[in-house]
Amino acid sequence: MPAGSIISRPLFRRETNAPLRAKETEVNTMRRPLVAGNWKMNGDLQLVMQVEECLAEAELGHLDVVICPPFPYLSSFTSDDIAIGGQNLSQYESGAHTGEVSGKMLKAVGCDYVIIGHSERRADNFETNALVADKVERALADELTPLLCVGEPLEIREAGELFEFIAAQLDAVIEHIGIQDMAKLVIAYEPVWAIGTGKTATGEQAQEVHKFIREHLAKRDAGIAENMQILYGGSVKASNAAELFAQPDVDGGLIGGASLSPQDFLGICQAAK
Ligand code: PGA
Repeated sequence: MPAGSIISRPLFRRETNAPLRAKETEVNTMRRPLVAGNWKMNGDLQLVMQVEECLAEAELGHLDVVICPPFPYLSSFTSDDIAIGGQNLSQYESGAHTGEVSGKMLKAVGCDYVIIGHSERRADNFETNALVADKVERALADELTPLLCVGEPLEIREAGELFEFIAAQLDAVIEHIGIQDMAKLVIAYEPVWAIGTGKTATGEQAQEVHKFIREHLAKRDAGIAENMQILYGGSVKASNAAELFAQPDVDGGLIGGASLSPQDFLGICQAAK
C-alpha cells in the first residue's frame, strides 16, 4: 500500500446536508463572497492535505471556500471549512454511461457543488448550451449547487458580440429550468481568452460583464439578480484578486492554476471581502 494511502483517511468526509441555498427573492445586497478552486486534471493526495492544513490556520469565516478536485480525490477532503464540488456530472441519473459520474454519486461523497459548462468541457467535450442546461437540471435534482460557467472566446469579443453570446448561454439555462430555480445557482464569468493564459480581464472589463449578467437576470426577477453570487474566473492570482473582487458585481472567483498552490489560493481567499 503506498504511503499516504486514501485508506488512512475517512471514506466519507461528512454528512452533506448543507441545504441548497434557496435564496430569498427579496433584495438583499449582502452577498457572501465565494472562492472556488478548480484543480482541473491536476493535484494529488498530498495537495489535498497541504490545502487543508494551509486553510485550517486562516480566518476564512467571511466567505464560502470550495475546492473542485478530480473525482478520485473528492472523498479525501475532511475539513468542514472547505466545501467540495465535482468538475462535471452526467446529464443522466444513472445507467449504461461508461466513464460518467452522476449527481447522486457526487452528493454521496460529500459534494455540495458541481462546475457545469466550463469552457474546456464546452470545447473538448462538445458541450452545447442545451446539454449544459440539462446538466444544471440534473444537478438541482440531486441537490447540488451548480457553478454555471459562461464566457466568450476572443473572436466573439472582437466581433462585438460579447453580450449576445453571454445572454444566449444564460438564456439556455433560464428557459430550461425557469427563473425561480436560477436562485439555486452560482454563476462564474470566465472569458475564454483569460483562462490559463495569464491575461486577466481588468477590474473594469470584469465589472462590465458581471453587471450585464445581473441586469439580464433582473429583467426576469430583480431579487434573484441581486442575490446571485457571480464569480470571475481567468488567471486570477493573489496579486490581482483584490482589484477584481473590489468590483461591485464581482462576488468572488473561480480559480484554476493558482488554486494548485495552497499559499496562493489562501491569498486569493483573503482578498475576498
Ligand atoms: P485559470 O483557470 O485561473 O488557470 O485561468 C480558471 C478556470 O478555468 O476556472
